[in-house]
Amino acid sequence: MAYADLYERVRQKTPVPITERDLERVLVGLLQAESLWDLVGLCDVPLAALPPLLEELQRDGLLERRGDRLTLTPSGKELIEEQGWVPPVEARCPRCRGRGIALDEAPYDELLRQFTEIARERPAPRRDFDQGYVTPETTVARVALMRRRGDLDGKRLLVLGDDDLMGLAAALVGTARAITVLEVDPELVAFIRGTAERLGLELDVREHDLRDPLPAELLGAFDAFTTDPVESYDGCRLFLGRGLSGLAGVGGAGYFGLTRHEASLAKWHKLQSWILEQGAAITDCLDRFNEYVNWPYWGEMRASRWLSLEAAPQAIWYRSTLFRLELVAPKAYPNEPFTGSFEDPELATT
Ligand SMILES: [Fe+2]
Repeated sequence: MAYADLYERVRQKTPVPITERDLERVLVGLLQAESLWDLVGLCDVPLAALPPLLEELQRDGLLERRGDRLTLTPSGKELIEEQGWVPPVEARCPRCRGRGIALDEAPYDELLRQFTEIARERPAPRRDFDQGYVTPETTVARVALMRRRGDLDGKRLLVLGDDDLMGLAAALVGTARAITVLEVDPELVAFIRGTAERLGLELDVREHDLRDPLPAELLGAFDAFTTDPVESYDGCRLFLGRGLSGLAGVGGAGYFGLTRHEASLAKWHKLQSWILEQGAAITDCLDRFNEYVNWPYWGEMRASRWLSLEAAPQAIWYRSTLFRLELVAPKAYPNEPFTGSFEDPELATT
């Protein structure tokens, strides 16, 4: 079968562990996508696997590319029909965009308005710190979800890396017992600290590199943590490991994001197994909860070179799944300096 041969050729050309299902996702994605940016936003396939995939599709005459425009050829459409594949039927709730959180009524309409105003002044994202922040709606929806799960009101929250300004949004609610923010970027630290002072918000903001162990007084001192890890396997374990070290014990909760753009399902599997081994259960896995504002350095990211992307994206394309974990059987978590790697062939936006 021509299709099996095609998949085999793509697999040989990429270090990313793709499956036959990824080929299906790209092909049906191409039925709906008009441009490369559409496709990466639609198809849930690691970005790093797309260049060889698209190359082989073009080589077999299934796909035509002009600049960033993509068009399936008649034989491309024929192959999809032969396989019996159909595009996923979208039925996202238009009110909450599938998050399950209503932001258009009290108290979150007002929080969103206030937070958007504050976030307008924030420093631009920096490539050297792997920054790329989420929309104000995403930050506020995360805070609302934490409240719905009982992880914010009267609780102690640890924010590990805060280019999403979670600390400020949570502090604006004003119901947490304590909030500590650890952030490596001095400019961002100054912004968060200055804003908190100006608004009279209770927020402990510290300049800290997560590759260094957590300060002793933060160990076991929190009820919940939130973080958006670097998506190498080691990077995820570093960020989540620091969060776990910060939790006080059973019932402690952790929030984090994971993409399909920079993490294959093989990586998801490995990471989820690791999380379970840490004594935590995964209670929430919310597809496309996190939406990221397009960052100015898109042209410098690896994926732009790999895919020879020519123009800036016109709409939000980078999204991630929001996970919540809860500790059931805590262990002693090591608080050692980081010796792993932030590098990984699946990373595409660095
Ligand atoms: Fe909804």
